[in-house]
Amino acid sequence: MAVQVAEVPGTGAEPERQTFKPDLERIEIELLLEGIFRHYGFDFRAYAYASIRRRLWKRIEEEGLSSVSALQERVLHEPEMMEKLLLDLSINVTAMFRDPGFYCTFREHVIPLLRTYPFIRIWHAGCSTGEEVYSMAMLLREEGLYDRARIYATDINEVVLQRAKAGIFPLERMQEYTDNYIRAGGTRSFSEYYTAKYGGALFDQSLTTAFSTTVSRCSECWCWAARKHCVS
Ligand SMILES: C[S@@+](CC[C@H](N)C(=O)[O-])C[C@H]1O[C@@H](n2cnc3c(N)ncnc32)[C@H](O)[C@@H]1O
Repeated sequence: MAVQVAEVPGTGAEPERQTFKPDLERIEIELLLEGIFRHYGFDFRAYAYASIRRRLWKRIEEEGLSSVSALQERVLHEPEMMEKLLLDLSINVTAMFRDPGFYCTFREHVIPLLRTYPFIRIWHAGCSTGEEVYSMAMLLREEGLYDRARIYATDINEVVLQRAKAGIFPLERMQEYTDNYIRAGGTRSFSEYYTAKYGGALFDQSLTTAFSTTVSRCSECWCWAARKHCVS
């Protein structure tokens, strides 16, 4: 097996010289991801390798460990370490009316179909901080379907779910979101949906209370309408 001397991924600080075996490291990473899947049910096995490797090493260094196998030992035996790693591994990039073309197509082709149903359920799997959920709520309201909809919004990351529930988004992104909203076929003035409050843009809470929206992780749900936890 070829042995290379290479920089261990991480902080970008001056790398320690050490013997680094990429083939062996790949085996360790695959074993860790398999272990996480089998023990906790979170499936990161198909994630981009370079990205997952970088994130694993960030956790390894923060814990003062020296190998992926050492992290595996901790993760499999300590649920708290799995919690930390979950935060490291989840990529939470999102935006309101992200991909405006999707919302135009949704309005044009899906909404007419939804109108034929007495009740609609929509599931945002991997909702991150909730911008996508609010976007859909606005669209449904504008299309007159809001009152017969229930939106389920789920994510594995409890931290982002908390932000989703709060409904406060960075003010500095409002211009971008306004542009997206217009390009997505929005029919109102985007600024009607939020007020500047708590250091951010607080979104119209009736977007979450007029119907039952759920932010959940596994079987645990958060019903926005009822403002309580329940079981899905
Ligand atoms: C890149 S964000 C996308 C957010 C939003 N759907 C959007 O497109 O703007 C991906 C989200 O999916 C979540 N996620 C990743 N894997 C998941 C899984 N197996 N189950 C639930 N959520 C997951 C992450 O925590 C993250 O918040």
